[in-house]
Formats: sequence, C-alpha cells, structure tokens
Amino acid sequence: MMSDMRVLGIETSCDETAAAVVEDGRRLLSNVVASSMALHVPYGGVVPEIAARSHIEAIVPVIRQALNEAGCVWDDIDAIAVTYGAGLGGSLLIGVLTARTLAIVHRKPLYAVNHVAGHIYANFLTGTALPGYSLPAGQPAFPLLALLVSGGHSQLVLFRGHFDYRLLGQTTDDAIGEAFDKVAKILGLPYPGGPSVGRKAAEGDPYAYELPKAKMAGKYDFSFSGLKTAVLRLAQAEVGADFTLPSYELPARLNDRQKADIAASFQRIAVETVVDKTLAAYEEFRPASIVIAGGVAASSELRRQLAERLPKPITCPDLKLCTDNGAMIATLGCYMAMRGQAAADPYTLDINPSLNM
Ligand code: KG4
Ligand code: ZN
Repeated sequence: MMSDMRVLGIETSCDETAAAVVEDGRRLLSNVVASSMALHVPYGGVVPEIAARSHIEAIVPVIRQALNEAGCVWDDIDAIAVTYGAGLGGSLLIGVLTARTLAIVHRKPLYAVNHVAGHIYANFLTGTALPGYSLPAGQPAFPLLALLVSGGHSQLVLFRGHFDYRLLGQTTDDAIGEAFDKVAKILGLPYPGGPSVGRKAAEGDPYAYELPKAKMAGKYDFSFSGLKTAVLRLAQAEVGADFTLPSYELPARLNDRQKADIAASFQRIAVETVVDKTLAAYEEFRPASIVIAGGVAASSELRRQLAERLPKPITCPDLKLCTDNGAMIATLGCYMAMRGQAAADPYTLDINPSLNM
C-alpha cells in the first residue's frame, strides 16, 4: 500500500459545489462546500438548472480553496476523485468535466466515485487539524453495517471489506429525506425539510397521531410514499377538509400546535421505520460496527433512537460530513487508489445519474 496518498475529491451531484483533500483515507486536510441552497428555498426544492449554473460559477474557486486550505500544490496531489452518479445530470456534468480536464492537464489518475457509497466513507475520517470537527477515534471495523439515509437514498448495506458489500434492502419509492422535504412543504416549513421538520417536531407530541408504518415484502426494504400521503390526509382532516383540498392551502389553515404535533408524529414514525430495520439487520448479521451516513444522519431524533435501541454504539460522521461534501468522495477515492481499483479514462468518463450501490 502506498503511504501519504493525497486525493482531491470533487462533488457536484446536487446543490453543493464541494472539494476536499484527504490523506491516506483517514486524514482530512481541507473541506470546502459552497451551497446554492439559498437560491432554491423560494421554490421549496432544488431547481436543477439553477444548481448546474451555480456549479459552473463556484467549481474553480472551490477547488482552488480546497488545495490552499490543505497547503497543497498540484505536485502534492496523487489522484483526483469525482462523483459521477447518482445525482442531477446537469450538476454531475460540471464536476465530471472539471475533474476530467484537471486529470488530463495535471496528469493525475482519475477515480469515478459512487456518491451513495461515498456517503458511507465519511465515517472513515478520523483525524484533522481543521477547527470545528468532531471525528471518531478509530475507523469502523468490518463487517460493517451501514444505514444510508439521504434525500435520494434509503438503504442498508453490509460490507465484509472495502469494495466487498451486499445491498440488504432499500426504499421502493421515496427516500426518507424526500419524505421529510415533502412533509415540510405540507406544513409550510422551509426547505430543506429535515432540519425544519426536526425543529418543529421538538415543540410537538410525537404520540399525538398514529401514522402507518409500511409493511414490505423485502425484510430490509423501506417505503415512505404511503407515510407522506398519510400525513397529507391527516392534515386535510385536521382542518376539516376532504382529500380534494390542495396541499398548498394547508400551511395557512393548520395552527402551530397541529403543525408541531404532525411534524413530531411523522418524524417519530419515519425514524422508527429505519431503526426497526437496522436493529433487525444487526441481530441477523452481528456486524463489528454500525455506521450511519447521508443528510438524514444529521437528525438528532435518528441518533437518539439508534443510541436507545441498538445494543452497540453507532459511528456517526460529523454533521458537516453528513450532507454532501467533497471529503467523503476524496476518502473513497483514496481507498480506490490504495487498493488497486481501476482508474477512469479522463477522455471518456461519463455521468450516471441513476447509479445505485
Ligand atoms: O445527503 P444529502 O445532503 O443529499 C443527498 O444525497 O440526497 O441529503 C439531503 C437530505 C434532505 O432531504 C434533507 O432534508 C435531509 O438530508 N437532512 C436532514 C437533516 N439535514 C439534512 N434530515 C433530518 N435531519 C437533519 N438535521
Ligand atoms: Zn448525498
């Protein structure tokens, strides 16, 4: 294994333009994230054209800052890693074309990273001189059970080692983060829904309403679209309307107590659903470690329920490493480089918007 492998990671799959430098798959040298989130808030969700245009403006300065903060010049960088999927096509293209160009110009090997797997690798970072990070003391051991919960994915993955994994189950419709975002819209809470529903839920009673948990054919599969519809029907009934009332009229008609109780009841059931399956997978496979990853891994309710119900402590990334970032891409890129995974051709690498684990 080579030592002092330094990888520049580039991530542009959604609304974050991000770049970071990681050393040896464990040390974070820099982590720069520019988000176009504020531009999407008025629309209640990410507008793909706005996201792609923002990436074009931000990508070069973000990469330059990531190198500067790491104290690196191009000679110090051994490889470039870039997210090539899953994500928004226009957004992915900016990162991939930038990484391809840099790989050719600076003669660096290029690694095509799966964004979904990248989220999990945020858990392998254990050291940094950067201020404000709380990182685990050691790397998670294999076999490793990963609960990946983001705006685009909800899945349980069992790793026997690096690049040796099995997808145990996944959502058959909406991702859990998507459900948070849609419930936020129903309640008139700002995008992104995860944090705003979480804050509203803190004022409410999580047992005020009984909402359904989907029964799935696959033991480790999830479904969140029924829960989202149940929240819509509950909100319509609470304001004394039937199912024909358009959802955009609900925020003005629900009072604050109803909003808080619906947010809390929804959050409890959504989180319980993923914790139930994580516990079942733990009992069946007895992994040496359990990690969580993805934007919803920032949820304090998820962390609380996991800590309460799982017999083993879980590893959570620093909050800044849960949502999209370049560090997780650089980390997985390091392992690809250190463990002899094939590099991509910088002249032909294409995006894959619907890539899965
Ligand atoms: O991983 P991520 O940044 O992007 C995707 O790859 O999808 O995840 C974004 C999702 C959004 O749905 C957002 O509402 C959710 O993560 N999220 C949270 C929190 N912060 C972000 N959900 C619950 N609690 C949070 N604190
Ligand atoms: Zn993500």
